[in-house]
Amino acid sequence: MSCEKTLFGKLKSGEEVFLYKITNMYGASVTLQTLGAGIHSLFVPDKNGKLDDVVLGFDEPDFYTDPDYGYQGLVVGRWANRIRDGKFTFEGKEYNTPKNQGSWTLHGGGRFSFTNWDVEETGDDYIVFSRFSPDGEDGFPGNFTMKVKYIFGSDNILHIEYSVLCDRDTVANPTNHAYFNLSGKNDETIENHTLMINADYFTETDESQLPTGELGEVKGTMMDFTTPHKIGDRIDEPFRAIIDGIGYDNNYCLRNKNGDFELAAVLSEENSGRIMEVYTDLPGIQLYCGGWLSKGFTAGKGESRVTFRRGVALETQFYPDSVNHKNFPVRYVKANEEFRTVTQFRFKTEG
Ligand code: BGC
Repeated sequence: MSCEKTLFGKLKSGEEVFLYKITNMYGASVTLQTLGAGIHSLFVPDKNGKLDDVVLGFDEPDFYTDPDYGYQGLVVGRWANRIRDGKFTFEGKEYNTPKNQGSWTLHGGGRFSFTNWDVEETGDDYIVFSRFSPDGEDGFPGNFTMKVKYIFGSDNILHIEYSVLCDRDTVANPTNHAYFNLSGKNDETIENHTLMINADYFTETDESQLPTGELGEVKGTMMDFTTPHKIGDRIDEPFRAIIDGIGYDNNYCLRNKNGDFELAAVLSEENSGRIMEVYTDLPGIQLYCGGWLSKGFTAGKGESRVTFRRGVALETQFYPDSVNHKNFPVRYVKANEEFRTVTQFRFKTEG
């Protein structure tokens, strides 16, 4: 096991971005970057033991700082996903967050994901990043510190532990926005990937993809992944919760609502034999297939490109806009008490 630091490059501002590569005893590795405490690359074996990178990303750090390129591998906060009208009332007070998309807030609305995080600690198989967000940053309450600990061991499990400490009660919805492509091929979409999601319901949305507060039943619809299905089989079906041509970009309500740490989803790709299990203690997961990524985009990592449906994000989270829906399961941050949530991506092979 080892954790090795290198310079990734410089941002236009001149600021340096660093990479930390954790390699396990079998040669599999994860590389984390200071920019957005992000997952830069993840090399895991296929059924023949061949290591390939299974996440999308860029060779140049500046691309990561543009929200239009989809938050590739970045940690998202303070509140992942959407907040209707960029406002919510918490403990009797109204807060206003940036309307960085249409009339709503997406992914915290500010620069939370797009700055260099501090490195608190590293070890042979782990790294801890931290970011301080002052009271009122992007409209959110409290002096807020988020730490993200990544552990990658010889079991090929990527463990992500988010912890938040704040000087007052506040809201937090951290996630990681990695786009996975288990084929390890640089020109394949994820339509051939098979997916299972442990959820009977999804959050119904309006035409702007904002939750209406209703939960829709997956049964009998293209949304049903309770048994494994190829993503591409139904992605273009006309369905009320799908934006035409974009495909899946929906929050699933996991069966696990009580904060237990359980299996949320399984993604697999037949040719490589790679399987990724997602475990979390959070109640929701956003299935997003990169439908908003531009078809002709030419930037990426090596020969791979960050384009339309090239990667699938499985963003563990509280349901989008939970701050505005009393019926959505959510856990808030208590003043001076550690708030903690864990997600794991477990890699295996079959075949
Ligand atoms: C959202 C998408 C968005 C993407 C990149 C996902 O979490 O649901 O609508 O395009 O993030 O920002």
